[in-house]
Amino acid sequence: MTDRFESHDVDVLVIGAGGAGLRAAIEASAQGARVGVVCKSLLGKAHTVMAEGGVAAALAHVDPRDSWKVHFKDTMLGGKMLNNWRMAQLHAQEAPDRVRELEHWGAVFDRTEDGRILQRNFGGHSSPRLAHVGDRTGLEMIRTLQDHGVHQGLEVYMECTVTKLLTQDRRVVGAFAYWRETGRFVTFRAKAVVLATGGVGKAYKITSNSWEYTGDGHALAMDAGAELIDMEFVQFHPTGMVWPPGVQGLLVTEAVRGEGGLLRNATGERFMERYDPKRMELSTRDMVARAIYTEVKEGRGSPHGGAFLDISHKPAEVVKKKLPSMYHQFMEFANIDITKGPMEVGPTVHYVMGGVRVDADTGAATVPGLFAAGESSGGMHGANRLGGNSLSDLLVFGRRAGAGAAAYAAKATAQAPLDPAQVAAAERELLAPFERSSGPDPYSVHRRLQDTMQSLVGIYRTEQDLKRGVEAIRQLRAETRTVRVEGSRAFNPGWHLARDLDNMLLVSEAIARCALQRKESRGAHARLDYPNLDPALGRVNSVAVREGDEVRVSQSPLPEMPEELRALVDAEPVAAKA
Ligand code: FUM
Repeated sequence: MTDRFESHDVDVLVIGAGGAGLRAAIEASAQGARVGVVCKSLLGKAHTVMAEGGVAAALAHVDPRDSWKVHFKDTMLGGKMLNNWRMAQLHAQEAPDRVRELEHWGAVFDRTEDGRILQRNFGGHSSPRLAHVGDRTGLEMIRTLQDHGVHQGLEVYMECTVTKLLTQDRRVVGAFAYWRETGRFVTFRAKAVVLATGGVGKAYKITSNSWEYTGDGHALAMDAGAELIDMEFVQFHPTGMVWPPGVQGLLVTEAVRGEGGLLRNATGERFMERYDPKRMELSTRDMVARAIYTEVKEGRGSPHGGAFLDISHKPAEVVKKKLPSMYHQFMEFANIDITKGPMEVGPTVHYVMGGVRVDADTGAATVPGLFAAGESSGGMHGANRLGGNSLSDLLVFGRRAGAGAAAYAAKATAQAPLDPAQVAAAERELLAPFERSSGPDPYSVHRRLQDTMQSLVGIYRTEQDLKRGVEAIRQLRAETRTVRVEGSRAFNPGWHLARDLDNMLLVSEAIARCALQRKESRGAHARLDYPNLDPALGRVNSVAVREGDEVRVSQSPLPEMPEELRALVDAEPVAAKA
C-alpha cells in the first residue's frame, strides 16, 4: 500500500534545515549515516537568520576573564535556574569549539584588531561574548552549514512538509510528508529521526517568525507520544519593528543595544533605569520586553505604540558598518535613517524556550528513534533565553543530536516496514479539508488563534485570561476539524495552512495549559496574579503530553545539579564589562 507513493530510505531523517537541522545532518553524515534532510521551505530560508547579532561563546577574545564557567552561570541566571544544568554545561563548554569549527568551514566573522574573532555585548552576558558578522550572523552561519552539508552529500528534500511520524511498537521508523508544489505524498523510512523544526511564533499575531514556524516538530513529537517541557516560556524579543504595519514584528537585532543603542520613552526618559538600573538596555530580554510593554500601557509609548531605540549618537560610518541590515531595513521599510534619528520598537514573539524533552548528551527524546535539537527541543534555556545562546545551542546540540541519531541508527540492521494503516490515516487526514462542502476557511481560524494567543497568553498573564485562552483554543481545535479548502493540491497555500493549524493549535494549547499550571512569575512567564518567584516551582519542569485529543500537563522534578556547578552559579560576578 505504501508503494503507491514516492518513498525514500535513509538511516537518519532530519526534519528542518535551519542551523540545528543542518548541524545534526552534517554530524550524522560524518558518522557514516545516510542522511536525508526535509525542509518545508527553500534550503537556506530559516529562522536561524533572525539571530542576527551573534553567537554566544566564551572565546575570551575581548574580555580575557570570560570562560565557560561564567557563560554557564550567566545562562543559568538568565534562565532563572530552570535550565537543564547538563545542557547548560555542555553548551558553555562546547560553544567555543563549535564557533572555531564554523570558521574553519568558511564563516567569515568580524575581527579584533589583532585578527581574532570579534565579540560584542548582549543582554545578560557578563562579558562581550557574541562572535558576529555585522548584524547578519545567522545568515552567515546558515550559508556556511549549507555549503558544508551539501558538499558532504546530504540528500535534501526542499519544500516538503512532514505531517506524521510513523511508528512501530512506539518506535519512530519514518515519516509521511507531501510536496508543497504538487501536493503529492511521499514517505520516508528511517532508522532514526531528528526534529529541528524551530518554534511556533506564527501562533501569535506579532512575531519575528515567518510562515514556516508553526510548531511542527513540537506537534509531531506529541503525536508520536513524546513529552514536551516548559511550554509556558515564550520569548518576546523586546525590539521588533512597530511601524509600518506590514513589517510589524520584524526583528530589530539586540546588537543595536549591544553596540550602545539607548531606549527612551515618549518623555525622553531612559526608562530602563527604573526596571534594571545596573544593566539598563543590556538587561535580559524578559525584563526589557516587559519594561517597553509597561511604558506603552502607562501612556509613555512612542506614536505607534513602542519605545524609541536610538543609536544615532554613534558615528554614522560605525552604525553602517556594525548594523548594515538594520540601516537598510529602516531605510527601506520605514524611510528612517537610523544614523540620524531613533527607531520605534516593541516586543515581538521570537522564540519558545519549551520543547521536546531530550537527553542532554544525545538529544534523544522520550520516544525511541526520535531526537530533537535547537528550538524544537526544551530545557537548555530554562525560563528565558539569553540572546546569542540559540546559535550556540543549535551548533552544540545539533551536533550532539546528529551523533546520537547516527549511533542509534547504526544499531538497526534495516529500516522497519511502514504500517499501511498509519500511512492511510495520514493521507485521509490531509485530504479531509477538500472533501467538505462547507466549513470555515483556515485563514479566519488562524487569525482568531493569533488574536487569542496575543491577548490572552501574552507578555502578562492571569488565571482568568489563561482559562479563556484554553477555552478559545479548544473551540478553534474543534473548528479546525471542519475547515474547508478549495482548489487543487498543486501549490495551495490554504491547504498548507489548514494542515499547519493543527500543529499551531495543539502546541498553543500546551503553552496555555502549562502557563495556567505555573502559578508564579519566572523569566518569560509573568503572572499578574502570581507576581513572585515560587522557590518550590523553581524545582519542577512543566510537562505536556497528548492523550487522544487532550493535552495533559503535569510537573516533574528538575535533575539535581552537582555541587561544583552550583558553586559556579553562586560565585561572585566578574567586574564591569570590558
Ligand atoms: O537580536 C538578535 O540578534 C537575536 C538574537 C537571538 O535571538 O539570539
